[in-house]
Amino acid sequence: MPARRVAVIGGGLVGFSTAVCISKCLPQCSVTVIADKFTPNTTSDVAAGILIPHPYPDTPIGLQKRWFQETFSYLLTICNSAEAADAGIHLLSGWQICQTAPEEKFPFWADVVLGFRIMTEAELEKFPEHHFGQAFTTLKCDSQRYLRWLESRLRGLGHQMEDRKITDLWELHGHYDVIVNCSGLGARTLVGDSELYPVRGQVLKVQAPWVTHFIRVGDGSTYIYPGMCSVTLGGTRQKDDWRLSVDSTTSQDILNRCCTLEPSLKKAYGITEYVGLRPTRSAIRVEKEMLLRNGSQLPVVHNYGHGGGGFSVHWGTAQEATHLVEELIVPLQGSLAKAKL
Ligand SMILES: Cc1cc2nc3c(=O)[nH]c(=O)nc-3n(C[C@H](O)[C@H](O)[C@H](O)COP(=O)(O)OP(=O)(O)OC[C@H]3O[C@@H](n4cnc5c(N)ncnc54)[C@H](O)[C@@H]3O)c2cc1C
Ligand SMILES: *[C@@H]1O[C@H](CO)[C@@H](O)[C@H](O)[C@H]1NC(C)=O
Ligand SMILES: *[C@@H]1O[C@H](CO)[C@@H](O)[C@H](O)[C@H]1NC(C)=O
Ligand SMILES: *[C@@H]1O[C@H](CO)[C@@H](O)[C@H](O)[C@H]1NC(C)=O
Repeated sequence: MPARRVAVIGGGLVGFSTAVCISKCLPQCSVTVIADKFTPNTTSDVAAGILIPHPYPDTPIGLQKRWFQETFSYLLTICNSAEAADAGIHLLSGWQICQTAPEEKFPFWADVVLGFRIMTEAELEKFPEHHFGQAFTTLKCDSQRYLRWLESRLRGLGHQMEDRKITDLWELHGHYDVIVNCSGLGARTLVGDSELYPVRGQVLKVQAPWVTHFIRVGDGSTYIYPGMCSVTLGGTRQKDDWRLSVDSTTSQDILNRCCTLEPSLKKAYGITEYVGLRPTRSAIRVEKEMLLRNGSQLPVVHNYGHGGGGFSVHWGTAQEATHLVEELIVPLQGSLAKAKL
């Protein structure tokens, strides 16, 4: 039987992880990744890559939890293997702090991360303006290393990468059996999804190797995430702001906020600045769709809208998208068998 041809549009975290998952689970498929930007030039490269869920108001909590759980245990296995350094994955402990205790002291993901507990008074002494906190251990991906590792796995599996901008999914009709749309914010024009909008995020990456714990203000406004090669300081959440250029006033503000939480950062050096646009939607869209035009069919699986939490759920959504690809391929095989009779 000839290989089923699958095109994955998107060379960021979601495109790469979906392509890897399809090749692992559906060996009958030959996968081509098509994108106009690859690492290190995607939104995914800018991310701090920490695994802390981001809320998707219109995705059921049970599903958000399952995707997070699947992603966490998949990455934890890599983290506990000899691959960890190449994949850029490590464990990270730290504190999420709030000025006052929230209504729900235990978030839905408290039993997914490791060793979740409420901070003690003695621990809170470090943060005089904050009176409640949660301590836990989670995972962090070094975004660029992880993307490079996924890319090398895809190349090792013999898959193709194509540097190309798609303006209409129908360009691919006849060349592929299934199209997987992991185009992030690109889906806004590509599939005409006006529910998708950018949330601009600016971050600093600094050298401060003495900072070994993460510190995150509960609403996600300010954060300090130590990583393998640098410490990421953030951040901003600017809705509908498309500016990709760095704003130096914002950088100073981020640095000031982070130094208030962790005064030792005043001695940080080697500061670099980055901007990314989070592809945001009230729900992540993982869905199949049969596009019709002039009597022709084009089977599409969508996987986009991961917003500010793509790293936290990407393996769960990659698995979900892979199941949908499988469902579309089974009837294709049926019709092929019939055509041969
Ligand atoms: C500052 C910042 C910090 C973040 N920190 C974290 C964090 O700590 N933890 C976390 O979980 N998440 C974090 N995120 C969120 C995370 O980065 C995103 O959820 C994730 O990167 C989205 O991945 P993606 O593959 O969907 O999009 P992208 O990385 O944007 O990839 C989209 C791909 O599609 C391609 N494409 C689009 N349109 C077309 C087209 N028409 N033709 C061809 N190719 C096309 C692009 O070239 C690109 O390759 C952060 C985001 C930002 C901005
Ligand atoms: C990333 O962007 C830079 C600058 O535009 C470009 O020179 C480089 O080739 C790009 N890298 C990839 C892998 O596309
Ligand atoms: C991806 O899906 C979105 C939403 O349906 C659509 O607007 C966009 O055109 C699609 N991308 C491609 C490359 O087809
Ligand atoms: C659909 O078919 C009509 C009539 O044959 C043709 O004029 C038109 O260009 C076709 N549209 C597309 C998108 O192929």
